Amino acid sequence: MSIRFIKDKKRFIINTKHTTYAFDVVLDHYLYHTYYGKRTSSLPDPSFHTVSFSPYLPGLSEAQSPDVFPQECSFYGSGDFRPNALRLSTDGTGVSDFVYHSYRIFKGRMALDGLPAARADERTQTLEITLLDSVSGCRLMLYYTVFSDVDVISRYMIVENNGGACATIEKCMSLMLDLNRSDLDMISLYGSHCNELNFQRAALHHGTQSVYSKRGASSHQYNPFIALCDHSANEERGEVYGFNFVYSGSFLNEVDVDQLGHTRVLVGLGSDCFTWRLQPGEVFCSPEAIMTYSPAGIGAMTRNLHRFAREHILPKAAHVPHPVVLNTWEACYFDIDQDKLIRFAKEAGETGFDMLVMDDGWFGLRNHDRAGLGDWYENPAKFPDGLASFVEKIKAQGVKFGIWVEPEMVNPDSELYRAHPDWALQTEGREPLRSRHQLVLDMSNPAVIEYLIDRFDRTFQGIEIDYFKWDMNRHMSNVGSCRLPADKQGEIFFRYMKGVYRLFDWFAARFPNAVIETCSGGGGRYDLGMMPYGIQIWTSDNTDPYARTMIQSSALIAYPAMTMSCHVSNPHENLGSLDYRYKVALGGMLGYELNILNMSEEVKQTIAAQIAQYKSLEHIIRLGDYYSLASPTKYDYSAYYYASSDTRELLLTVIEKRGCPAGSTKRLRIKAARTDALYTNVITGKTYSGEELRAGIRIDLNGTDDSAHLLYLKML
Ligand code: GLA
Repeated sequence: MSIRFIKDKKRFIINTKHTTYAFDVVLDHYLYHTYYGKRTSSLPDPSFHTVSFSPYLPGLSEAQSPDVFPQECSFYGSGDFRPNALRLSTDGTGVSDFVYHSYRIFKGRMALDGLPAARADERTQTLEITLLDSVSGCRLMLYYTVFSDVDVISRYMIVENNGGACATIEKCMSLMLDLNRSDLDMISLYGSHCNELNFQRAALHHGTQSVYSKRGASSHQYNPFIALCDHSANEERGEVYGFNFVYSGSFLNEVDVDQLGHTRVLVGLGSDCFTWRLQPGEVFCSPEAIMTYSPAGIGAMTRNLHRFAREHILPKAAHVPHPVVLNTWEACYFDIDQDKLIRFAKEAGETGFDMLVMDDGWFGLRNHDRAGLGDWYENPAKFPDGLASFVEKIKAQGVKFGIWVEPEMVNPDSELYRAHPDWALQTEGREPLRSRHQLVLDMSNPAVIEYLIDRFDRTFQGIEIDYFKWDMNRHMSNVGSCRLPADKQGEIFFRYMKGVYRLFDWFAARFPNAVIETCSGGGGRYDLGMMPYGIQIWTSDNTDPYARTMIQSSALIAYPAMTMSCHVSNPHENLGSLDYRYKVALGGMLGYELNILNMSEEVKQTIAAQIAQYKSLEHIIRLGDYYSLASPTKYDYSAYYYASSDTRELLLTVIEKRGCPAGSTKRLRIKAARTDALYTNVITGKTYSGEELRAGIRIDLNGTDDSAHLLYLKML
């Protein structure tokens, strides 16, 4: 049993394989957070310290103010002045105070109304805590779903309005964790388009530090993953707490250090882009947030998060080899037509590709990015024989077929916009802002979703699509809906995401044999909310291998390699050799974006050999455990390896960064190697004992700007 209630102490204990989480019901009112850390059976008791100026309930004392002790959930206006988890009221004040009422423990998990959620298995258990606010008449259920095998606990909440008046939720945070310490660093990933997922680590300070998005997408700017760790924590040592959000829209992750030097972590929808009107009898369900704890460094936290995403988030289809695609974007941009792409498919088939992905430019009058979005039917000038006949001809070349879509968007210059200008997000009296010449469709409007369903259904009728690349190429401004009354406009961000998830669900049901690669101008929605719908995510529009080395290394802190779409491309000169670009792309799921029609036989043969080699080892990348040895954010090279779960196979990659000096030798300790085993590098035939690998394998850096080293070590 992972969850227990100790009746005499009124204590809840949640155990995962290596961690313990505990809280107590205190003062017949509050939930006092007692412990989160290494698995233990000796838990501290709640303790209270007097602090002046913090208000308390009549009959209690200053020491019992909710402002000064660690809690499970906190409510605006109830005496806890730190950032709160919930702001809700029926009287416009935002004030509520939910009091512990009861609990329930059950097998499995709650489904989250129209939202992505981690998959439970037969080992999953959930704790439901019910609290009541007598004034508003609302019931609050806090959920703790336990994924014991991967040391992850997920958190979400449901608010039920059982009162007689409409309740307004103005802030909603799915996860709250209070720690009685602040000697911690915060790790976060920030960036911009083409420069996603930069690693940042800084000591916590008093006040609130946050990452957030108000862009309607989780964004390139801040990823929803954060971690807190000991100042001295490294890959192998130190306490680390990891957090993430199973959601792809606007969010807020707050970390606050309070007057007592205690730290509060909050993960959720926040308040800037969220309000919700809950009528009597209605229920609101929050998205899911997750946390994990590692006593053994950042690497162990990473592996918990990877296993969690693989086993509980990603669809089953991600667990078989992903197709090696030839994507047309960086090779052709909008300049595509049936004859050209049939020639692409022929060459792709002969070179060993699994699939041709036809990117942007196939529909409406989409000859550039100023027109056509929303008109989801083939351009007859480019496909005079129709899409169905074209796809048949592609498949006749021995490759599968993928196609690009961007369902959430519309160009003002499109048939769709001319017919339904009210379907774009807009605020009355203001000209909506443009970004990439496009507007955002009001996905909170069911009529828009129905239209898209009908349109895609008809366009792809009778066509065997194997793969969709689902893009989203701008952020939301002027977030208003023509359909909703003024007091519901604050709900649009959340309703939008539910509309998007509904459309994803429809695609999954309508095209059961197709898989999806998600994308938002590269890594603008690189999050756990997208991952249940797609097998992988287009990591970045930046395919420069030097930049990619950094981006991929940071992505891997929180997300497994099977989510990371990595293409060899060369639209510009001077981007390293083909071999170098291939070895960088081996960090994740391999694909190419090159003009195969211009290639020499020699280049094609090299690519054919790369694809063949990749296919022989992709299972280790896709399913293996990831170990970072040298982060390119810190060193002038990147080194990491994947180990198969039985550790019989190890794949070590060393990427030298531009300007990496020649002549230095690195000893890389492969600690996952078995001591009693002999490993052979199947690429060179050289053998190494497990002891030798653990003590440190010697790699001589060449310093040639595009040197990369790949060792595929196998117990034969
Ligand atoms: C985005 C994607 C690219 C490509 C273009 C097409 O930028 O990230 O890979 O699909 O859109 O317009």
